[in-house]
Amino acid sequence: LKTVDDLNATPVRTLPDTQEVTAVQHWTDRLFSFRVTRPQSLRFRSGEFVMIGLLDERGKPLLRAYSIASPNWDEELEFYSIKVPDGPLTSKLQHIQPGDEIILRPKPVGTLVLDALMPGKRLWFLATGTGIAPFASLMRDPETYEKYDQVIMMHTCRTTDELEYGRQLVESLKDDPLIGEFVGDKLKYYPTTTREKSERMGRITDNLSSGKVFDDLGVPPMDKETDRAMVCGSLAFNMDVKAVLEGFGLREGANSDPQEYVVEKAFVGDGI
Ligand code: FAD
Ligand code: A2P
Repeated sequence: LKTVDDLNATPVRTLPDTQEVTAVQHWTDRLFSFRVTRPQSLRFRSGEFVMIGLLDERGKPLLRAYSIASPNWDEELEFYSIKVPDGPLTSKLQHIQPGDEIILRPKPVGTLVLDALMPGKRLWFLATGTGIAPFASLMRDPETYEKYDQVIMMHTCRTTDELEYGRQLVESLKDDPLIGEFVGDKLKYYPTTTREKSERMGRITDNLSSGKVFDDLGVPPMDKETDRAMVCGSLAFNMDVKAVLEGFGLREGANSDPQEYVVEKAFVGDGI
């Protein structure tokens, strides 16, 4: 039986499912990433998402879907987030500091998982904006490189500074003591901008349809026998990429019905 002293000594957790923020990094005035402690019981497949959030003014949880950007072997969880100026959650979430607590419901779900694809030789990650988050997880998972001979990460944003989180992550992989040897020279990175002049430009849809990305990387065009793809961006982007992939003969799959490609929305709405 607990005594009053025991009860007083127990730290008061006002909410279930809280996790502590361990690090925060701001990339632009619209983008930031952060890390939180991982619930001991949380198991997830790289590429899945969970609901996270904060309490609102009335003390009720305000939750949104977030892709886990860290791989499943990491002892912490990482997230990569937009800052919507008047967004109910992110107008507040953007101010979190190490030591703060967030709510995290430990029920991971999602279609961007390796199991939802038929075996293949080459895997394409196609993302715009914060849609790179699930691939930040999958690019750091050894299983990705065990299952595929080559992995191609295409990420497109309006400007170069919006690509920086992904660029640094990819660069860090080669020398990573845990994952570096799995990655080897299997990962090809193809970042482009659409509204600022840079080394490589153009929408993912255009660079696939025109064949520019295949020429630039010196790889054969997509082929349904060998190529698999995962897509994460705005609704409009997802729709247009689907049409391009179908043009190459790939079919959309799901956890329950693995095929050649899978899709997830990076957010709901028209964008900001
Ligand atoms: P909301 O009211 O949710 O959104 C307001 C408007 O902002 C939206 O209508 C939309 O037009 C725009 N918007 C919202 N999110 C984004 C975004 N990511 N990029 C561009 N415009 C956006 N967001 C992340 O930042 N990182 C993630 O990893 C992430 N994963 C998601 C996974 C899934 C499956 C889904 C459905 C959404 C995901 N989101 C992610 C979006 C996220 O759930 C919230 O919409 C976002 O955090 C903004 O919340 P909010 O309450 O501030 O504004
Ligand atoms: P663009 O600048 O040509 O619109 P956003 O910031 O609007 O969410 O867009 C993120 C990136 O996704 C931008 O580079 C944008 O290119 C690109 N994009 C937006 N919609 C589509 C689409 N339907 N097909 C291909 N790329 C898209």
